[in-house]
Amino acid sequence: MRVLVVGGGGREHALIWKLSQSPAVKKIYCAPGNAGISSLAECIPVKAEETEKLQKFAREKEIHLTVVGPEAPLSIGITDLFQENGQLIFGPCSRGARLEGSKAWAKEFMTKYNIPTAQYEIFKKPREAYRYLKDVSYPAVVKADGLAAGKGVIIAEDAREAAEAVHYIMEDRAFGAAGDSIVIEEFLRGEEVSVFAITDGETYYPLASVQDHKAIYEQDRGPNTGGMGAYSPAPILSEQLAAKVIRDIFEPLLAGLKNEGINYRGVIFGGLMITPEEKLKVLEFNVRFGDPETQVLLPLIESDLCPLLYEAARGNLQSVSPPKWSSYAAVCVILASQGYPGKYEKGKEISGLEKVSQFENAAVFHAGTSFEGNRTLTAGGRVLGLTTWDPSLKDALAKAYKMADLIDFEGKYFRKDIGHRALRRTE
Ligand code: AMP
Ligand code: GLY
Repeated sequence: MRVLVVGGGGREHALIWKLSQSPAVKKIYCAPGNAGISSLAECIPVKAEETEKLQKFAREKEIHLTVVGPEAPLSIGITDLFQENGQLIFGPCSRGARLEGSKAWAKEFMTKYNIPTAQYEIFKKPREAYRYLKDVSYPAVVKADGLAAGKGVIIAEDAREAAEAVHYIMEDRAFGAAGDSIVIEEFLRGEEVSVFAITDGETYYPLASVQDHKAIYEQDRGPNTGGMGAYSPAPILSEQLAAKVIRDIFEPLLAGLKNEGINYRGVIFGGLMITPEEKLKVLEFNVRFGDPETQVLLPLIESDLCPLLYEAARGNLQSVSPPKWSSYAAVCVILASQGYPGKYEKGKEISGLEKVSQFENAAVFHAGTSFEGNRTLTAGGRVLGLTTWDPSLKDALAKAYKMADLIDFEGKYFRKDIGHRALRRTE
């Protein structure tokens, strides 16, 4: 089978790493890929949003399955385009992608289908939003409706901050058209957890739970990033809570999508809050694998990933068995460039990669790297995802941090407390 993976970060590297272990996969292309990916796949210089080019490429190369990493191409209809041309693709159609692409749509969907989520109001006019801010309790959460590269959520401590947030999103148009509408919602306390399922719209297979660390600094302080680390499974998600995820979230979600006539084939990724009373609330849905969540999920799948994605894309997921899970714990520690998630420099030489290549049950997934001759350079805010798995979370973490010391580049930054919540819970 020839497979095309769309995207070029750590998530895509992990997907390709796992797919390359499949006996069914003979050749992998990646658009645009990165330096690490190029050791497993042929990288082509096409961006993930260039959907027409990708469709033509897949046609020319007679690709059997295209797997989409990021949300942007899904939102603009890459799946619709492939399907219109009779080409197999894993990832939801643009109508399904609204679950992530429009927070207002997702909230209304959740209300309609009784999926637990924070109380909210939607506004299209700033004036009405300002008026509403007088009546809410604080902190309150102000969210741009559309895709804003993870930056469209502002937690406001008081009415003044909330008004600034409304102004920033709707009047300064900080995120462009993504801020034409906003959602203002109740602030929820508790601990976050991510849940995933692969579905063909009828059958779905839940994946393991994950927790990530969004904040740049230790103790989860400072601005949010795409994720500075992750681990799986998340000990907070007890069997009882996992059963609630199925009953209260996945079941009504799938039924709702079907009822709306959306034939959803891809990943469902729920960001949940577990409140101190052990109530589950959906903070957001994503319509793709998480990054870096994928880096810790895939090493724990002992069975072949390819048939799952292939049959989900074909609408025949029930013909394959659910994934077989390892009993290990997996962690990912991100090495980032100094300054991320703000401004940072690129082009710093990375050393020490060869020192960790012999580590067992470990993988270095490249997030933002490039080649210059035979040198590997930094090329993004998140540079590498040091991923390890082991019977014990503690040992997996120790190994990842050993790798973090052996690999170096100018301005290397990483959080030293990845997994702190899980460690506390398991000790
Ligand atoms: P979202 O993109 O909606 O998941 O929001 C990004 C992050 O903002 C989440 O992972 C939470 O940390 C935080 N967040 C979003 N909505 C809420 C809420 N209603 N209460 C508390 N924190 C929130
Ligand atoms: N790590 C969060 C995300 O992929 O959205």
